[in-house]
Amino acid sequence: MEFYDVLEKRRTYRDFSDRKVSDEILRRVINAAFKAPTNDHLRQLEFIVIRGQENIAKVIAPLAKNMAMFKELVSEVDESGDKDKMAMFADALPKQQKMLMQSGLLILPFFRQLTWPLLKPTEQSSLNYFASAWCALENMLLAATNEGLGTVFHIPVGDEAEQIKRIVHAPEGYEFLCLLTMGYPAENAFLPKQKDINIEERIHTNAW
Ligand SMILES: Cc1cc2nc3c(=O)[nH]c(=O)nc-3n(C[C@H](O)[C@H](O)[C@H](O)COP(=O)(O)O)c2cc1C
Repeated sequence: MEFYDVLEKRRTYRDFSDRKVSDEILRRVINAAFKAPTNDHLRQLEFIVIRGQENIAKVIAPLAKNMAMFKELVSEVDESGDKDKMAMFADALPKQQKMLMQSGLLILPFFRQLTWPLLKPTEQSSLNYFASAWCALENMLLAATNEGLGTVFHIPVGDEAEQIKRIVHAPEGYEFLCLLTMGYPAENAFLPKQKDINIEERIHTNAW
């Protein structure tokens, strides 16, 4: 695929078929993570790959309890009256657990969080480990798109991260970014409408 086509085609899919993603494709997608820029030349990424809906169910069990809290969080930020956003949430909310299981492939991207606890940064650069890991994640999303896969991730809320780290026996000093899944989109996969952005209005020449 042409690079700009990949950018256009990368969308958040929340409906997958059960067609298996091969190990070979998965390896190429994970390899893409290591091509991203990284603070201090570190590339301290590790991946837990979980296959099979039953195994995934065990890892995402903490989500069930937190779904109510997640909905509350969303309605709190829902005063914008943004119709595109609400259409996205109306589709996304009920699918948070199912979407992570449907393709039978779940990935936990871990990064080494040195020096500062992730949730206690003291300055912007304290978040460099986190930022590097997100650069790597975007590379993976684009590589997966290039392989004809759809992707989606769930960001842990409440105590999900701590509980999931315990379930998968994550070592001390490592954090995971999100629960990432990828798979072949279902035939009837729903894609919320994209926002129309006028780039000219977003570019400020010399000063805002
Ligand atoms: C930081 C971040 C957190 C997100 N968290 C979630 C999430 O927890 N669950 C979910 O279904 N989608 C999540 N998304 C996906 C967004 O809803 C999606 O990217 C957005 O609606 C734009 O749609 P697109 O990815 O198809 O362009 C998240 C995206 C980002 C960048």
